[in-house]
Amino acid sequence: MSNRIFVDVVLDMQMGDSAKGKITHHLASGKSGKNYTHVLRGNGGGNAGHSIYHNGKKFITHIIPAGVFHGIRSVIGAGCVINVEGLIREMHQLKSGGVDVGPYLRIANNAHIVTTEHLHEENGETTVGTTRTGNGPAYRDKYARMGVRAETAFRGTPFADMLIDLHTEFYKNSDNPIRVLYEGAQGFYLDIDWGDYPYVTSSHCGIGGVLLNGFNHKQIDTVYGAVKCYETYVGAKQFEDANNPLFAKIREIGQEYGATCMPKGELVLTSFGYLPVEKVKVGHEVITHIGRVRKVINTSIHDKNVIYKITLENGLTLRTNGKHQYYMADGSWVKAKQLKLGDEVIVHSQTEMWKPLKEPNFEFFEISSWEELEILILAILLVKQNVENGGILELH
Ligand code: IMP
Repeated sequence: MSNRIFVDVVLDMQMGDSAKGKITHHLASGKSGKNYTHVLRGNGGGNAGHSIYHNGKKFITHIIPAGVFHGIRSVIGAGCVINVEGLIREMHQLKSGGVDVGPYLRIANNAHIVTTEHLHEENGETTVGTTRTGNGPAYRDKYARMGVRAETAFRGTPFADMLIDLHTEFYKNSDNPIRVLYEGAQGFYLDIDWGDYPYVTSSHCGIGGVLLNGFNHKQIDTVYGAVKCYETYVGAKQFEDANNPLFAKIREIGQEYGATCMPKGELVLTSFGYLPVEKVKVGHEVITHIGRVRKVINTSIHDKNVIYKITLENGLTLRTNGKHQYYMADGSWVKAKQLKLGDEVIVHSQTEMWKPLKEPNFEFFEISSWEELEILILAILLVKQNVENGGILELH
């Protein structure tokens, strides 16, 4: 029966953030000429963040497959671990954006659950620099045969109707052809076996991980390897060439780091307390949006610029340039100038969450001209854009 099942696969060939979500969303739309019966996520959990633009709106999905945007049966597969609270939040967020997940979402009964203990356990993790979403502990307990499966956790809950047995779903339910689009998570160099151990995730991010969801190698049809024109990595690993000025430039142009542009006097939380930004030096350790400790690798002084002042409900005021990105409660990033009343901003650790009290306003205004840099930005962004819009490397 295997010749009636075809599996197309979208995999990240790097270390995440290569637009897998957008590519999957595009392929699932049918514009590529293929009509899928299923979109399946088969590894990872809430550690992933796929940014998807649908009908002019931006969505961030962590565990829900992109098939829900196109009315395709969307399966959280056997290789995934599920944070139930996160799943419910994600379902609500999609519904409030006009995407009703309920009719399409299905959950493999042998997927595993991220428990509250798993989340607490990862709370202070700094060695690997994980996403602190409890994934590692959940996979550890799965393999130690101490985990909780979805079929157990969801018994008697509204999720029970979404549970499926993957073998029945693909091999027993009907004789009609089944065409699956597999939405990979993380990336090849974060794979538990093939990545730079221990700076890896806890699941299988390559083609092997696809098969673990009930397929055989003959059913694999096309594999799309997603890459971007430069590599990014989030975690505790220190790169030898981190101080190369070229990388600093690419990082700034692609806005690929927690670069911050603040006026003199603004306080920055470092490992030895708050320091005015002008006193922060290369080598100091600063605390990031989710409480990670990161070394400062570059500092620079800019000309006068537009500065936005954000006042949060706890009385804290933050002054940054308009491009400075704030980490939001839903896992997305919003630029200072685009923050709205009612948005929830995460401050220093995921335990602190505050809403802006006023719309951001700017204090002074002067434009500096960076013509040369702008040309470079444009060139790099164009390449990045091209990848995001379907400039995909086809492997076979
Ligand atoms: P974990 O998956 O949360 O255990 O994190 C392990 C490593 O994988 C850390 O370096 C994370 O930053 C990285 N990681 C996990 N998920 C993603 C992802 O979706 N994109 C990029 N990096 C990720």
